[in-house]
Amino acid sequence: MRIKKLLLAVFICTFAYGSYSQSTATLFVQSDSGHQLISKNIYGMFSEHLGRDIYDGFWVGENSPIPNKDGIRLDIVNALRKINIPLLRWPGGCFADQYHWMDGIGPKNRRPQTVNTTWGNVTENNAFGTHEFMELCDLLGCKAYIAGNMGSGTVKEMSQWVEYLNSDLESSITKLRKENGRDEAWHVPFWGVGNESWGCGGNMTPEHYADLYRRYASFCHDYPGSPLKKVASGPNGDDIHWMEVLMKNIPHNLMWGVSLHYYTIPTGDWSHKGSATQFGENEYFGTLKRALEMDKVIDHQETVMDKYDPQKKVALAVDEWGVWTDAEPGTNPAFLYQQNSLRDALAAASTLNIFNNHSDRVKMANLAQTVNVLQSLVLTKGAQMVLTPTYYVFDMYKVHQDAMLLPIKLLSPDYVEGNDHIPSVNASASKDSAGVIHISLVNIDPSKTITVRTSFEGTQWQHINGTVLTSANFNDYNSFENPDKVKITNFSNARKEKDELVVNLPPKSVVVLELK
Ligand code: AHR
Repeated sequence: MRIKKLLLAVFICTFAYGSYSQSTATLFVQSDSGHQLISKNIYGMFSEHLGRDIYDGFWVGENSPIPNKDGIRLDIVNALRKINIPLLRWPGGCFADQYHWMDGIGPKNRRPQTVNTTWGNVTENNAFGTHEFMELCDLLGCKAYIAGNMGSGTVKEMSQWVEYLNSDLESSITKLRKENGRDEAWHVPFWGVGNESWGCGGNMTPEHYADLYRRYASFCHDYPGSPLKKVASGPNGDDIHWMEVLMKNIPHNLMWGVSLHYYTIPTGDWSHKGSATQFGENEYFGTLKRALEMDKVIDHQETVMDKYDPQKKVALAVDEWGVWTDAEPGTNPAFLYQQNSLRDALAAASTLNIFNNHSDRVKMANLAQTVNVLQSLVLTKGAQMVLTPTYYVFDMYKVHQDAMLLPIKLLSPDYVEGNDHIPSVNASASKDSAGVIHISLVNIDPSKTITVRTSFEGTQWQHINGTVLTSANFNDYNSFENPDKVKITNFSNARKEKDELVVNLPPKSVVVLELK
């Protein structure tokens, strides 16, 4: 009934005034009718042998003066534990299809030196391999998602890696693992079969990839106690043909999910992506507009998936996403090191709202790439570490992990820039196992406070708590000199008016509210 009233209001506003141009947004939360859990794996991360993500990032080596456990940097571990990262993808990215896992096991002084031809031709000493990655996941308390090498590796090689990780049966491969210091299988749950096989992973056609996938996936066995969720290398953004061929040609019992990669390029131009910190309102607007396009991209891919899988058994795994800018001046361009501002936090928060609202199909996502590369949560310089504005979004949004998605209807005023416009406000809502409702709201408009009036169907609540992430300028960021410029503070600009929740959402802000 209330939805009907809301739609009527939209209709009247649209036709009476041409567009809905006030500074008030209307939100309706169906708090009594959720039926879909938001998988915590939507809050997953991605790590790659690229620039300073692993080496001089997660991994500093056992002899480093920086506090570490077996070479793994502990301040990073502690920061990521705090936000409950559920899942870590590794070792790439494009690197995955040049990685031979046997190079990264056994005594470190006997591991071969190879060259990371994908990312800057640097020497890879293979100090960080399978055992180190699995220890990192243990320290983080998260699950592993491994991307197997299909581009330059054999079926046997991939099959044996799965065996090494997941089998407790007796064989030379499990004996080798034991000789290398690990008795029990790790039981890795998620397995990627290749990465970007339309590009760096082999430049394949979708038909060729689908055939190869069937063969490789058939030999990635489910060992006792280790059912493997296999993920096919899915489309680049809006490429629905790739998705169509995979959904048609790969038997669905052979794949748990299909991946999707979508990056937000501030200028929209890959040859000049834009600076991470020096940009004006036009580029700010363009970045947020492109980030919001994730919704359309998912819609398009979902339409194809629904055609072949109406019961939504195959997951969409957005296993690479984030804002990708030019590298910081003075750094190796192949290392993709970029700063990360309030703008990027707004893009991340909006994207996570999109994923939450699509959680019937999107069951996994991995932000690229956690430490020192692209839209990182953490940046390091020597012994110093800063948390980026994007880190704080993941901290605020962790309340949605494995909570029940609550359907919403949102009517937002537009944020207008030049001749273009996008909705100022986006949102998602969930109810956790204790019955607590969380609403995450983003106001993209850099200069207007938006009042959000929210009504609920079927829930009584009395108390509101809230946090907010904002700053004076949309390009503010946390530097090593000023690490706390952008951070979470308490939010008190929300009140109860009869049964309505009224929130004054500051310009360029992310707010998460808890209602009990
Ligand atoms: O994240 C950087 C690169 O972007 C990844 O290696 C690749 O998969 C994508 O093209």
